Amino acid sequence: MSSVIFHRPEDAPRRAAPLKPGEAVSDTRGRPLRDLRISVTDRCNFRCVYCMPREVFGKDHVFLPHSALLTFEEITRVARIALTQGVRKIRLTGGEPLVRKGIEKLVEMLAQLRTPEGKPPELTLTTNGSLLARKARALADAGLTRITVSLDALDDALFDRMSDSAIPVATILAGIEAAAQAGLKPVKVNMVVRRGMNDQEIVPMARHFRHSGHILRFIEYMDVGNSNGWRMDEVVTGAEIVRRIGSEFALRPVQPQYRGEVAARWAYADGAGEIGLITSVSQPFCGNCTRLRLSPEGQLFTCLFAEQGHDIRALLRSGATDQALTDRLAGVWLVRGDHYSELRGSAHRDHKIEMSYIGG
Ligand code: GTP
Ligand code: 5AD
Ligand code: SF4
Ligand code: SF4
Repeated sequence: MSSVIFHRPEDAPRRAAPLKPGEAVSDTRGRPLRDLRISVTDRCNFRCVYCMPREVFGKDHVFLPHSALLTFEEITRVARIALTQGVRKIRLTGGEPLVRKGIEKLVEMLAQLRTPEGKPPELTLTTNGSLLARKARALADAGLTRITVSLDALDDALFDRMSDSAIPVATILAGIEAAAQAGLKPVKVNMVVRRGMNDQEIVPMARHFRHSGHILRFIEYMDVGNSNGWRMDEVVTGAEIVRRIGSEFALRPVQPQYRGEVAARWAYADGAGEIGLITSVSQPFCGNCTRLRLSPEGQLFTCLFAEQGHDIRALLRSGATDQALTDRLAGVWLVRGDHYSELRGSAHRDHKIEMSYIGG
């Protein structure tokens, strides 16, 4: 059997008929489109050293002007079309999504969308948690279904050194509790682990979130963007993290819940809850990667490590029909062959997109 590789979305076959309910467009590696991650802003009130170091993102840094950002109506239109192509989960990211004015309104608009089977999409958001205590209730009322909060340390001095934000850890913990109280449960807490920086916080973080009902997930430090000077020896592998926590609290592996689940799950043997390991470096999960990313200014990216996006804003602003937008989106996915994390090292890239632009 021969397979054809299309190099540009424009060359991909036009999709004459809409997909049937439950069907999804597949890429050149047979991966369906299931998740849409929407970055709503390139701004953030933190300056995490591994993501937006202040030397690079200082006061002279030029962020996108408001007119360049997709409007809520434009975002909702892209999401509506993505649902017809297989998307079942939508995640809002940034930068920091809660600094985008009126974000609750966008959540409300997205929550009204339906899949071809008539179901609402799963609608979630990744935040640094600093504004969450204030916004959790409004987000839940608007129809958000879940939330993920980034937190890299419990120790205030260390947290400050990593996030360069002067915001106390207590503010983030209050945000997490407010989210759970508003019903955004289970809250997922994401900790990026960087050796020599915060790896001493692995066990204290595990201890803190045991019995809390929140799911703590450890993320291997990645070489995203161009500004974090990543080195392999700064990665603490998921296996080492499990060993370190396991020496204190007995753990047992839990089966994945669905194809493409990013985190490997482990449960505490004493029933105190579970943790997740996101091993993007030591055990890449490209084979199951079903994620399409939409940038704040309307570029579609088919990989977190992509150097180039595919513009959809010009089409949106040219009065294009839904069919034209559907063809564009499906065309971008059909030609996709990304698997960067499986190549890392042998695939040097000079101009990767920044994580603060496209979100985790
Ligand atoms: P849920 O489990 O449904 O909440 O979502 P998820 O597992 O996709 O997790 P989340 O969106 O919170 O992603 C967690 C982290 O995993 C991100 O912050 C990234 O560091 C990493 N990650 C997520 N998606 C990708 C991806 O496509 N490629 C790589 N290499 N890393 C990713
Ligand atoms: N490696 C792994 N995860 C990262 N994030 C940001 N930069 C990196 C990196 N270099 C994560 C943050 C947050 C999400 C937005 O992306 O911790 O969970
Ligand atoms: Fe830190 Fe997230 Fe902001 Fe990046 S986007 S600086 S990881 S809080
Ligand atoms: Fe997906 Fe690219 Fe991450 Fe692989 S490296 S899992 S293809 S986003």
